[in-house]
Amino acid sequence: MIKFLDLKKINKRYEAAFQEKLKSVLESGWYILGNEVVTFENNFANYCGTKYCVGVGNGFDALVLIFKGYIQLGKLQKGDEVIVPANTYIASVLAILEADLVPVLVEPKLETYNINPDLIPEKITSKTKAILVVHLYGQLAEMNKINAIAAENSLLIVEDVAQGHGAIFEELQTPNSKPQTAKAFSFYPGKNLGALGDGGAVTTNDAELAKVIQSLRNYGSEAKYQNEFVGVNSRLDELQAAFLNVKLPNLDAENNIRRVIAKRYLSEINNSKITLPYWDSSNNHVFHLFVIRTENRDDLQQYLLNKGIQTMIHYPIPPHKQKAFESLNHLSFPITEKIHQEVLSLPISPVLTMEEVDFIISILNNY
Ligand SMILES: Cc1ncc(COP(=O)(O)O)c(C=O)c1O
Repeated sequence: MIKFLDLKKINKRYEAAFQEKLKSVLESGWYILGNEVVTFENNFANYCGTKYCVGVGNGFDALVLIFKGYIQLGKLQKGDEVIVPANTYIASVLAILEADLVPVLVEPKLETYNINPDLIPEKITSKTKAILVVHLYGQLAEMNKINAIAAENSLLIVEDVAQGHGAIFEELQTPNSKPQTAKAFSFYPGKNLGALGDGGAVTTNDAELAKVIQSLRNYGSEAKYQNEFVGVNSRLDELQAAFLNVKLPNLDAENNIRRVIAKRYLSEINNSKITLPYWDSSNNHVFHLFVIRTENRDDLQQYLLNKGIQTMIHYPIPPHKQKAFESLNHLSFPITEKIHQEVLSLPISPVLTMEEVDFIISILNNY
């Protein structure tokens, strides 16, 4: 059986280094917000090309804390509208609601699965204050167009990069340039940079925002037992930070293996029943997922399973059709709904062998 994602095999490669880290954290006697978290925050900020990185409990909290941080700074107010793609993992929409903001859903492009920038302006009202961009499946959204729309309408940009580690590198902004963006990362085990449990981070060049989030993640407190804000407990765990420090130096190499596999799928899968994902090669896609479309998706998934290939569906139900969002259930987003009916994610990971890729391609071509 070819697993969709073999996490054991992925992490086994780092076992000795993880054991070393465990020993060193154990012996340090300091288990919350210690050296490993600080080191990871510096390493990840450097890796992303941003001035600041704040480690938090998970990717969802990273998003929520960005919004709450902007609320504390007076840049957002409860009840403000936030544009978000209709085609995303539910966490993006939930994070907006958790911060008492209002999600306004926008259709994606069928080819890229990412938000269609041309449909954003018609959704902008006097209450719209931000765009939450999601770089879905590891492919960057059309940031040039989105940045221009945001600048024209004085909107903040928040980026959900839970699936896109390594797709973005920002040059450090000059001291005079206005920092307007913040990015939320998840280190959920299955992500391109995955921990051995939950983890997340915010990156930004905005010193004020970084400072507020640093406090918000720790009960709104900077100095012990003095609470400036109504915060939460959402700190990046010291051990998870230690494990992430081990894995980060290999992230680019692992993303490259994903790209090699993606290129093979794109050039060698040849079956009229299957639509391959669009990849603009100027876009630094990190292929968190390789998502194909087919009309009889469930049939193809069963066929692959019978041949020993595990696949997954990201995602079977769009956010606006989830029971949890009853007030959104009446909305209609035909492109989003079509995507959810037709998508299937093929195995792709740094430990998938070329023989396994050969096999997957030949089985798909015989479907
Ligand atoms: C697009 C997207 N946003 C947010 C999240 C939330 O991350 P986490 O599971 O770490 O809370 C995830 C992953 O789970 C995700 O895929």
